[in-house]
Amino acid sequence: MQPVSTIAELRDRLSGERTVAFVPTMGNLHEGHLNLMREARRHADCVVASIFVNPLQFGPTEDFDRYPRTLKEDCEKLEGLADAVFAPSVSEMYPVKQTVYIELPGVASELCGASRPGHFRGMATVVLKLFNIVQPQIAIFGKKDYQQLFLVRQMASQLNLPIEIIGCETARDADGLALSSRNQYLTETERIEAPFLYRTLQDLEKRMLDGERDFENLERQAVETLTSRGWQVDYVSIRNQSDLEKADSEHLVILAAARLGKTRLLDNIEFALNRS
Ligand code: PAF
Repeated sequence: MQPVSTIAELRDRLSGERTVAFVPTMGNLHEGHLNLMREARRHADCVVASIFVNPLQFGPTEDFDRYPRTLKEDCEKLEGLADAVFAPSVSEMYPVKQTVYIELPGVASELCGASRPGHFRGMATVVLKLFNIVQPQIAIFGKKDYQQLFLVRQMASQLNLPIEIIGCETARDADGLALSSRNQYLTETERIEAPFLYRTLQDLEKRMLDGERDFENLERQAVETLTSRGWQVDYVSIRNQSDLEKADSEHLVILAAARLGKTRLLDNIEFALNRS
């Protein structure tokens, strides 16, 4: 499939479409992304994917330059799944220096926002630009980036965007590792260790379902276990699903981000505490 690289061409291509479902990506597509496309197809006549590595959401020491760019292979994978692929250049998206940004709620500076200052501001700004360009009725995001999905939902609802935001379950390898474009940075030994992040979250979930309620202690123990195995942990945090504040409700999510060598991995588990 031939990607569309300009906004004018995309608008022309989409004029007359009745319902559009949109899947924004940074490319280097894996099965997780393809699941998002399949979900999109369930909601609309026309499925649009974007492939754009957004410089605004990378910090100065992050992997913007080495982020894998595989446009040709991505377009082949999207054959039969998307009706249009929007792959703009940086100058098409940012013809002038971007000085207008989305201001997000305080939780955007916690969790991933604490170790990646400005990341969510850059993410939300490009997502809003992409929404304005594609003008979809539906947009699909993966739950692996849980905080991102939460913030996009807040933006869509508080700014009255006429877009339904749908969150899709995380796709995993057979050993539980959440699929991510960054998994390919892992060495062979790190790849063997990587599913331990998810197992740690599963263990915390089990302990809470078994009745443990000292959330801080559970978080601390998880950090200690991961650290003792060579992980550099950014956070393990038990939060409410509804507002991502510290856990004080029934519907919870355990979120974690940790580095193995040079690779930063993210994961989370949603669950509900038993009423007692
Ligand atoms: O999740 C991603 O791949 C990116 O943050 C997104 C939503 C495409 C915005 O650049």
